[in-house]
Amino acid sequence: MTSGFENKMIDDFFQKLHMGADGIYGSLNLNEEQSEEIALREKVADEVSDDFMRDISNSHSIPVMDYEVCRILNNLPRNAVIVDVGGCWGWHWRKLNLIRSDVKVIIVDFVRANLLHAKTLLGNVINESVFLVHGDATKLELPDESVDCYWSVQALQHVPNYNKAIDEACRVLKHGAMFHNYSLNNQWPIRKLYDLLGKSYVVKGHVNGSFFVDRASDEQKKYVEKVFENKVIERWSEILYKPELHIIFAGKEGTFSGFIDSKLSNCLGLFKFIARQRSFHCVK
Ligand SMILES: C[S@@+](CC[C@H](N)C(=O)[O-])C[C@H]1O[C@@H](n2cnc3c(N)ncnc32)[C@H](O)[C@@H]1O
Repeated sequence: MTSGFENKMIDDFFQKLHMGADGIYGSLNLNEEQSEEIALREKVADEVSDDFMRDISNSHSIPVMDYEVCRILNNLPRNAVIVDVGGCWGWHWRKLNLIRSDVKVIIVDFVRANLLHAKTLLGNVINESVFLVHGDATKLELPDESVDCYWSVQALQHVPNYNKAIDEACRVLKHGAMFHNYSLNNQWPIRKLYDLLGKSYVVKGHVNGSFFVDRASDEQKKYVEKVFENKVIERWSEILYKPELHIIFAGKEGTFSGFIDSKLSNCLGLFKFIARQRSFHCVK
């Protein structure tokens, strides 16, 4: 039996990977550096409401990211394979079959409970066009030069060894394939406002003694350019969406403000100081 991938290397990879009774591939035993984060996220995953999209709009702009997903999908080769690292509930791929039914996505996340939510949210595309792998960004286990696109949204910002995750990204991508990583931006006007309000704004470190966060930086950009031996194109997104200021109207699905926000995303550096996300895009 095959897993349905046209790509022989990926097909072989899934043949060898054990699938649990829960329909999720692989099993991650240990991540010492982020063990506290895993425990915390497992707990948060237990408390999720049954309105996934509402919960998502509290921390991500759905219209903005839907637009970003569409942009990358439309530029992929036929039968492309995407690896979504830290893909969590997999909501980016809920319209995959409508946009590019030939494309397959492998979601890797180190919190199994999040992958179980992805299974519920995505329904019957699981193990047809979207595959769930319990794994680690710093040790992907996919074969060398096997995927056509690396996609990661607000996940690598939590990985203390960012460079190791980038090395892995470069290893698994084919030559000519695209790397996309969206992280939180260091928005100095918001940082100043937080200072005035006496609130803590973490650029790099632990947030309230819990998650580690490392916002997108020039240092990270330089490392990507070094490893990929290519220029990084930067992009700024989530200009109107500001959950840190409790402004989340542009995050909801189907809203006009969300539509406007998706159109404000740009590579020109416009609104770069207030954009919530700064992303790096690079060809291998
Ligand atoms: C802020 S959430 C973002 C989720 C998703 N990308 C999105 O846009 O909705 C970060 C996700 O990254 C995952 N994550 C963090 N560090 C990871 C690592 N080292 N390996 C795999 N997944 C990781 C977390 O479990 C969580 O699901």
